[in-house]
Amino acid sequence: MAASWIAADLPPIYRDGREYFLLGHDDRLYLVLNRCPHRGGPLKFGFVNGDDEIVCPLHHGVFKIAQLVAQASTIRLDEQPATAP
Ligand code: FES
Repeated sequence: MAASWIAADLPPIYRDGREYFLLGHDDRLYLVLNRCPHRGGPLKFGFVNGDDEIVCPLHHGVFKIAQLVAQASTIRLDEQPATAP
């Protein structure tokens, strides 16, 4: 099973006017829209259950992390090589 976590303590992350949260999944980092697919609840304040799903804090909807990171709106953060000074 993949280990996943939500960086709920970070300040809001905005890109193009939309709020994202940092999600760790399968040793990778992602920016995921902080907007529940159900009715827009703040997924950032949900929790990861034992089945690698995020449980939304608003109506307790359950969403597979593998599907959330596969959404077109999700941004995968890649390591960038250091640049020479
Ligand atoms: S808004 Fe997330 S389950 Fe309803």
